[in-house]
Amino acid sequence: MTLQFSLTTAAPETADTACVLVGVYEQGVLTSAAACVDGATGGAIKRQVESGDISGKAGSTTLLYAPTGIAAKRVLVVGLGTQKGFDAARYQKVAIEAARALGKLPLAEATWYLAEVDVPGRDAAWRVRTAALAADHAAYRYTATFKPREKSAQTELASLAFAAGADAEAGLAQACGIAEGVRFARELANLPPNICTPVYIAEQAQAFADAHDKVDCRVLDHVEMEKLGFGSLLAVGRGSANKPKLIALQYHGGAAGAAPYAFVGKGITFDTGGISLKPGPGMEEMKFDMGGAAGVLGAFVAAVKMGVGHNLVCVVPSAENMPDGDSYRPGDVLTSLSGLTIEVLNTDAEGRLILCDALTWTARTFQPQAMIDAATLTGACVIALGKHASGLFSRHDDLATELLAAGEHALDRAWRMPLWDDYQVQLDSGFADVANIGGKSAGAITAACFLSRFAEGQRWAHLDIAGTAWDEGRKGLATGRPVALLAQWLLDRCEK
Ligand code: BES
Ligand code: MN
Ligand code: ZN
Repeated sequence: MTLQFSLTTAAPETADTACVLVGVYEQGVLTSAAACVDGATGGAIKRQVESGDISGKAGSTTLLYAPTGIAAKRVLVVGLGTQKGFDAARYQKVAIEAARALGKLPLAEATWYLAEVDVPGRDAAWRVRTAALAADHAAYRYTATFKPREKSAQTELASLAFAAGADAEAGLAQACGIAEGVRFARELANLPPNICTPVYIAEQAQAFADAHDKVDCRVLDHVEMEKLGFGSLLAVGRGSANKPKLIALQYHGGAAGAAPYAFVGKGITFDTGGISLKPGPGMEEMKFDMGGAAGVLGAFVAAVKMGVGHNLVCVVPSAENMPDGDSYRPGDVLTSLSGLTIEVLNTDAEGRLILCDALTWTARTFQPQAMIDAATLTGACVIALGKHASGLFSRHDDLATELLAAGEHALDRAWRMPLWDDYQVQLDSGFADVANIGGKSAGAITAACFLSRFAEGQRWAHLDIAGTAWDEGRKGLATGRPVALLAQWLLDRCEK
């Protein structure tokens, strides 16, 4: 079920809703909405602050049931932490915790009175948008292949209103588009690899195009790619019964003939490592190896839903990396679409091998004004940055700055890594123009260096999302990153 969002100007004490959410800082400082509710209820909040039942700790929640003096049946008091130092990240954290608490209550609707709090550098539109996205994130349930056991008859949250003025309208509209993109990405990435195959991704892209004016979809199969010379991409997919696809979505949101922005996403639907087989434990997580594809498709969905005024293309090379009698092998020399030859030293470094051909094809086919790829490319990036930041690589300082700023604003952050030529020698080969791995050190950087060889002359950036695309562990779900970052970057391009 998808959450419905709206704006309201109702006062917290008279709002006709099942629950009002109000904020309290540590040391008992009430926000103005909390003070209103407190006044109308004869001190219901302050009493609990004094007793210590409400601490105001960031992300804590306390439910007041049926206090007299207000119209709503419930008040969810949300702790904001200390007033000093309250910032965007804290606001988001508080919103996520509040949304989680809200999701556990048996109610269908609620009103959010926290968009009034001051967040340095952020306006009301941002505050509403961020809260809406947090709520949508918390409301997401994966149900495609099972019914959660505790699936009770409890009423589920269906609509959330935000107390804010008309200046927040744009934020709400953006939230709806981005939430849809995030959900699209999460659902696609969460699906098991026996369902989410290259064909399946192609079908999803085609279905989206069919349902939207201004969107076209084109899918190249392995036969066409063979004719065109996708020697690198095809080698990766050769060991699998699920044949590779190249999926291209085009959105005509800008002037006819204007150069598009291009997103490219790694779509490995399962990565066994191939002949350079990965160890068994945790291998199931490699179903998320199409997280880059999911992310760029989600960002594309968000852009279309928001109706951004730019042309945009989204290209997904998709394949499955399997060991087989027909698999490519270490030692093979591949001829990529660009003409550069590649010595395969490890079949587990497959992401770059499908992306290189996709980058070449995207540049040639669309002559984009900027090209950004997203990929769960290296374990080394997870070691370097963990799960909090995506790795950003670009030779173009202006593009890198734009992407960092977008990630910062959307709280879907990236951190820039070097892409200096000094590292390129690690890719030297005695048998081909380039080797597909660069040795032990700086694995995330040498992977990006490899890609850079196929983005010559392009305004290009690479996001390594290996650490950020999903939450690890048995029940870890896809995060939907970097949809918010990419969507924000596009929005920022519209403001110029
Ligand atoms: N999909 C993996 C990268 C990955 C690993 C993402 C773990 C998230 C978590 C990629 O295809 C891969 O296997 N990379 C190798 C490269 C190596 C062989 C140079 C890696 O990181 O070990
Ligand atoms: Mn691999
Ligand atoms: Zn991979």
